[in-house]
Amino acid sequence: MVKDKLIFNGNEKQVFSTDDPCQVIFRYKDVTTAFHGVKRARFNGKGVLTSQISALLLGYLNENGVDTHFLRTLPDEREQLCRMIEIIPLEVVFHNRIAGGLATKLGVEDGYKPENTILDLCYNNDELGDPLINRDQAVALHLATYAELDEMYDIVRRSGQLLTELLHKAGIELVDAKFEFGRAADTGAIIISDELSPDTCRMWDEETGERLDKDRFRLDLGEVTANYGKVLERLKTALGIED
Ligand code: C5P
Repeated sequence: MVKDKLIFNGNEKQVFSTDDPCQVIFRYKDVTTAFHGVKRARFNGKGVLTSQISALLLGYLNENGVDTHFLRTLPDEREQLCRMIEIIPLEVVFHNRIAGGLATKLGVEDGYKPENTILDLCYNNDELGDPLINRDQAVALHLATYAELDEMYDIVRRSGQLLTELLHKAGIELVDAKFEFGRAADTGAIIISDELSPDTCRMWDEETGERLDKDRFRLDLGEVTANYGKVLERLKTALGIED
């Protein structure tokens, strides 16, 4: 596998083509952004941590029957080999608790725990601020078919459950998680794409309630990489991985 051209240069990640048309390399940057790019900073080592956490979470889903774009980690610790996809510009956010933007929108206390889980469908469109969208609107814009939306919801319910259980073993509560999707270039199947890490999921320490995720940056709580490091170490222990 040979790294080829830069095909996407995002705020927090770069994607490179390879000599295999069905495989790409994801490179995680140290940059972090919030509030649609309005707030921005660099944290040395953050890219290595988000890459490694993402590899463990996506790899865990692969092993448990949910296909994702992740194939394997690479010698450069901030890079991973992934399946090439056709992007579906939709996000599904899974909520075990109502926190952040959703708490503000619904006027409930941050961290309110409902009896059910909540799934939100959003249009992944920076200019529009990733607004909520419903199924009929998504189909009207030809973003996905009804059958694909059913599949995405099913994938999110199964993944949300699997990740909640895995993180619980690590003493971490999964508060919410954002999932993105694509159609695999080789099979056309709907698979999870993009990362799963404290940058895209809220994770709270089960005992202390301490935030271990991007809210440390959003809310200026400090110690961003130290807390991402905690997530990685605890996940490794829960998965029985030794350094
Ligand atoms: O912004 P909001 O509070 O609705 O975010 C819900 C979850 O989705 C959080 O875990 C957040 O980190 C993630 N998210 C994301 N990228 C976005 C919006 C939300 O990763 N563009």
